[in-house]
Amino acid sequence: MTDLLTDRLQLRIFQPDDFERHAEICADPEVMRYIRAGPLSRVEAWWQMARYIGHWQLRGYGIWAIVERSTNRVIGHLGFLDPEGGVGFELGWVLARSAWGRGFALEGTRAAVHHAFTALDRDHIACVIRPENARSIHLAERLGAAPEREIEESGRRLIVYGIRRSETVAD
Ligand SMILES: CC(C)(COP(=O)(O)OP(=O)(O)OC[C@H]1O[C@@H](n2cnc3c(N)ncnc32)[C@H](O)[C@@H]1OP(=O)(O)O)[C@@H](O)C(=O)NCCC(=O)NCCS
Repeated sequence: MTDLLTDRLQLRIFQPDDFERHAEICADPEVMRYIRAGPLSRVEAWWQMARYIGHWQLRGYGIWAIVERSTNRVIGHLGFLDPEGGVGFELGWVLARSAWGRGFALEGTRAAVHHAFTALDRDHIACVIRPENARSIHLAERLGAAPEREIEESGRRLIVYGIRRSETVAD
């Protein structure tokens, strides 16, 4: 399980003590507006954290908690999932509302993309985004993602963006 460090962030696996903060972030309707499950109850947030930790065991990569290094506070999570029945090797991101607009998402996801294309030797990363999720589309485009196809889930249209190794701009 690999931690990543950027100038302002540490990406590390979730720890049991992260639960309260994780539950708080995932209960915010604004943060969860465009995410399939919507705002999570405490029980749902607990199981989600357990799934994220378990994914590391199953696949050797997964979702990191994002820690702001200057405060040592968890400000969200991001990373890779490839569940059975999913779209393939997929990058996801969630930041607490108080952490938006400071470039943290770009800084963390850039490090994750670099990790995927080097240490994990992947050549394609999918990002599944609702068409109304302008902030996430902006972030995906900054990462070099391009729309590849559309899928439908529970009657909702989702755009599958793809980031290819050859199209990624070096840091
Ligand atoms: C999607 C999400 C992570 C984007 O967060 P964000 O803070 O807007 O994204 P960024 O980190 O790219 O920061 C954006 C802005 O921070 C500003 N910024 C401030 N300080 C900065 C710095 N030091 N470096 C870079 N940008 C900085 C920039 O102006 C930038 O805007 P720009 O790209 O137009 O120039 C966030 O809105 C979120 O968590 N949404 C809810 C969850 C969600 O929908 N997840 C995706 C499901 S598909």
